[in-house]
Amino acid sequence: MPITIDSDIRKAKTLPSSYYTNPEIFSDLRRRFANHLHFAGHQSQLDGQTAIPIQHMGELIGEPMIMTRSDRIRCISNVCTHRGMLVSSTECSAKSLKCPYHGRTFGLDGTFRSMPRFDNVSDFPSPEDNLKEFVTASWKGLIFTGVGNSSSEGNFQELRKRLEWIPIESFKNDPSRNRSYEIDANWLLYVDNYLEGFHIPYVHSDLNNTLDYDSYRTELFEGGTLQIGIASEGEPSFDLPESSPDFGLRVAAYYYWLFPGTMLNFYPWGLSVNLVIPLSVNRTKIIYHGYVGDPLMLGRGAGGNLDKVELEDQEIVEATQSGVESGSYDRGRYSPTMETGIHHFHRILTRTDD
Ligand code: FES
Ligand SMILES: [Fe+2]
Repeated sequence: MPITIDSDIRKAKTLPSSYYTNPEIFSDLRRRFANHLHFAGHQSQLDGQTAIPIQHMGELIGEPMIMTRSDRIRCISNVCTHRGMLVSSTECSAKSLKCPYHGRTFGLDGTFRSMPRFDNVSDFPSPEDNLKEFVTASWKGLIFTGVGNSSSEGNFQELRKRLEWIPIESFKNDPSRNRSYEIDANWLLYVDNYLEGFHIPYVHSDLNNTLDYDSYRTELFEGGTLQIGIASEGEPSFDLPESSPDFGLRVAAYYYWLFPGTMLNFYPWGLSVNLVIPLSVNRTKIIYHGYVGDPLMLGRGAGGNLDKVELEDQEIVEATQSGVESGSYDRGRYSPTMETGIHHFHRILTRTDD
């Protein structure tokens, strides 16, 4: 029976616990990932390279991809059109891609180039022998891709309105900030936790010292949310230009979440991207990428020690998984001031038209 979440947060109940525990609901929600564009990477990951595999697209939507740079940046299939081997497993700077199985080669745009011992094959090569190219959308060096027709234009408008002044396109990929975690919890719990700053004083003592809790704010938009952390006295904040809608505020962090599992966290030092990858009903992978704009701001303020904050969150989320699996819990209620982001997420999840 379809669940609805009341649009009035004061009346609404949170998601039933089956959303976090039932494998069929998990699979239904998981299928919806294919309807959305997902973060592929930042253009600086291709500095000095012509091709990098994007492992996580295989895990997210079942399409292993390669991000390539030639006349432009593309996301193409990493699946060889001969017998399905993965073409690329590491980054490379070659002018073509060669399948390690039987040596079929492709251009960086995915077009078939050559294949040994195929001289007498009829109707070969054909367009079907090219690596498939996927739709991409980019904004200030951030590349998004996917298999569906979904547009990310709405999300870009939100980002543009706020952050057009940040030179994100000149940020540099910092592989030392890459992380990959697997946790014993449903992906929805990880997202729920991300979408509220309510828990900060209870769970993140150090982070709490850097933020002015009473000034924390959440904004909602179609397909996502923005949380703005305001710096406490003496803590680092963005140097906002007059063109920023937040000019005059001491913003320590912009936390963007884009449905279903992309998190773009902007700090004065740069951008930390978290990707939430559902593995099973009670197992989730979280991938971090870091792109640095101002190295002098690293290690300070709200974005200063992300590893500690992450582990604090994981502990809570895993414990909550065992809670929602118990027979004594089904649904809770929302704080009308502190949990608007989660309410918005749950409304999107329970919509039937997506
Ligand atoms: S599977 Fe790629 S060349 Fe055979
Ligand atoms: Fe947290």
